[in-house]
Amino acid sequence: MLIRDARVEDWARVWPFWHQIVSAGETYAWDPETSEPDARALWTGPGKRVFVAEDAGEIVGSASVRPNYGGPAATTANGAFMIDPGHAGRGIGRRLAEHVLREAKADGYRAMVFNAVVETNPAVGLWSSLGFTILGTVPEAFEHPRHGWVGLHIMHRTL
Ligand SMILES: CC(C)(COP(=O)(O)OP(=O)(O)OC[C@H]1O[C@@H](n2cnc3c(N)ncnc32)[C@H](O)[C@@H]1OP(=O)(O)O)[C@@H](O)C(=O)NCCC(=O)NCCS
Repeated sequence: MLIRDARVEDWARVWPFWHQIVSAGETYAWDPETSEPDARALWTGPGKRVFVAEDAGEIVGSASVRPNYGGPAATTANGAFMIDPGHAGRGIGRRLAEHVLREAKADGYRAMVFNAVVETNPAVGLWSSLGFTILGTVPEAFEHPRHGWVGLHIMHRTL
């Protein structure tokens, strides 16, 4: 599997699973009906570095990294990760995250923060195993289609 920086033409192959994941409404605090142009701006807009995981020529995952804050606080990154559900659970997310954490550090970021990790998301275990800690939880902030009102963790790791 190859993990590399995304090219402009990769978005067309990220969008189908981006849409599948966001429209499920279980893991991201974005409108499940986000349009393709709005999604492209959210994921690939100015100031972001985008990565893809490519397996046998197929794009199976992507990550988007940007400064989480501005000005004197711009060295804390925010990262967002999506693996094509058809390829989840194969270790791709972990490998992509390890790569992204290394690259973010090389880019000069001092830390990475996740602003809104749905507390029922199994990803919490992945992020914890990669050294992220839960700084706090915004209680009952996310209406999950199956679990009802659940909290959003703010997770942080120094790089
Ligand atoms: C979360 C996500 C990025 C993980 O990527 P992945 O390729 O499926 O995960 P991996 O196969 O690398 O698994 C990593 C670890 O997380 C655990 N894990 C991941 N998804 C899981 C799930 N749905 N159920 C249970 N455990 C899960 C695995 O057990 C694994 O642990 P291990 O490495 O100790 O065996 C991916 O499932 C995804 O895109 N989910 C939807 C979007 C999302 O939630 N993004 C993160 C928002 S915070």
